[in-house]
Amino acid sequence: MVNKIQKVTLSDMILCLSRVMEWISPTIVRHQMRVAYIAQSIAKELELSLELQYQLALAGMLHDIGAFSLKERIYFAHYDTDPELIQIHAELGYQLLKNFKPFGTVAKLIRNHHCGQHGTVPLRNAGTNSVYSQIILLAGMVDASICGEREILGQVPDICSTIGKDAGSVFRPEYVQAFTKLAEREYFWFNLDSASINETVIDSLRYFNVELDISDMVDLSKVFSHLIDFQCHFTASHSSGVAGTAGALANLYSFSESGCQMMKVAGYLHDIGKLTIPPRILNKREKLTSEEFNVIKKHPFWTYRALNNIRGLEEINSWASFHHERIDSCGYPFRYKGPELPLGSRIIAVADVFTALTEDRPYRKGMEIKNVRNIIHEMVADRGLDSGVVSMLFNNYQRIDEARQQEQAYSAQLYSEFYDSTKVSHQSSRYAV
Ligand SMILES: [Fe+2]
Ligand SMILES: [Fe+2]
Ligand SMILES: [Fe+2]
Repeated sequence: MVNKIQKVTLSDMILCLSRVMEWISPTIVRHQMRVAYIAQSIAKELELSLELQYQLALAGMLHDIGAFSLKERIYFAHYDTDPELIQIHAELGYQLLKNFKPFGTVAKLIRNHHCGQHGTVPLRNAGTNSVYSQIILLAGMVDASICGEREILGQVPDICSTIGKDAGSVFRPEYVQAFTKLAEREYFWFNLDSASINETVIDSLRYFNVELDISDMVDLSKVFSHLIDFQCHFTASHSSGVAGTAGALANLYSFSESGCQMMKVAGYLHDIGKLTIPPRILNKREKLTSEEFNVIKKHPFWTYRALNNIRGLEEINSWASFHHERIDSCGYPFRYKGPELPLGSRIIAVADVFTALTEDRPYRKGMEIKNVRNIIHEMVADRGLDSGVVSMLFNNYQRIDEARQQEQAYSAQLYSEFYDSTKVSHQSSRYAV
C-alpha cells in the first residue's frame, strides 16, 4: 500500500497549535501574537540575522505554551504574576519543546523569557542565544503596558518611559534603544492594535517556509501529544500508545514506510481536540453525567477543526478525527457509514480502544489480555470496530503490544522528567486535578 506524505510547513503546524490554544484562552494567544510581533520588530531594528528574527517570532508565539499544560488551567489568571507560576510555565514550555530539533533555539529562549539582566533568576543553559530571551521579556512588558480600552498612540510616551526605566537594570540598553526608535513609527502601533495581528504574524512566518519531512512531523506531533496527555498522569502516554499500536498495525497491513509514520502522526494527534475539554471533566474519576459526556463528544470534532485546512495533512486528519466513528454508523461526531471509513481511521479506532483498555485509568488498573479480548470482540459483534483490524491485532498480539509498551514507556519517562524539572508534585500540589 502506498501512502505518501505531502510536505507540511512548520508555520501551518504552528497555526494549528495556535488555533487550539485560542479555543482554550484567546487572551493568551493574542498576547503571544503581539509579543511575537514586537520581538520580531525589535530584532529587525537591531539588524539581527533573519534567522534570529524568525526564531524570536516563533518564541514569542509560543512563549507561554507551558501555561497550557498546567493541570488546572484556572491558574492562567495568575500565571504571569505569581512568582512560582512564572518560573514553572517558562520551564514547562522549555521541557515541552526542547526535543523537537527545529525548536532548539526557541525552547531556550522560552525557558529564559522571564530572566532579566540582573534579576534574581539566573539564565539557565545560557548559550549564545540566551541573551535574546530578554527581547521576549521586553516585548511582553510592552504588551502588558498597553491599555486595550484607550487609543493607542496616546499611550506611547508612558510605555516608553516605563520600559526606559529598566534600561541597564532589567534590559540591555541597546534593546531598549531599538524599541524606542521603533516606537516612533505609528504603523508599528497600528499593527499591534489591529484585530488582524494573528495573520500579520503568521504571514511573516510563512516567508521562511520551513518544510517538515515525515520524521519531523512525527517528532512535532509527539510534542503536541504531550501538551494534551501531560495534564494527567493516568493519560500521560495515551496518544503515544495509540501511535505505537497504529504504526505496528499499519506495518502489518504493508503500508509504506512513510505510511506507517503517517499513521503514528495520526495516533499522536487523534485527541488534540481534548485540549478544549475542561480538565475537571476529562480527568473525572466518577462516572460522567450525560451532559459531561456530551462535552467529551466534542473532542474528535475539534481535532478535525484543528487539522483541517493544513495542506498535506488531509489524509492524516481523516484517520485521526474519525476515531469515534463506528462501522454501524452510530459513532460520533460525523456518523459516517462503515464503507465511508478509510482503513487508517479503523486502525486508529482499534488502537485507541486497545490502548485505553491496557493502560491504567483514574478508576481502574490496566486490563489483562483476556478481558481486553472479550471487550474488543464484543465491540466487533456490536459493529463498533472493524473485525479485520481486530483479527490483525489479536493474531499479532505480542508484537503490537510491545510496540505500544515501548512508545508508552518513553512518554512516561519524559512525563516524569517534565514534572520533576519543575519540582511540582503531580499528586499532591495545588495543580493536581
Ligand atoms: Fe510568560
Ligand atoms: Fe478520543
Ligand atoms: Fe484517545
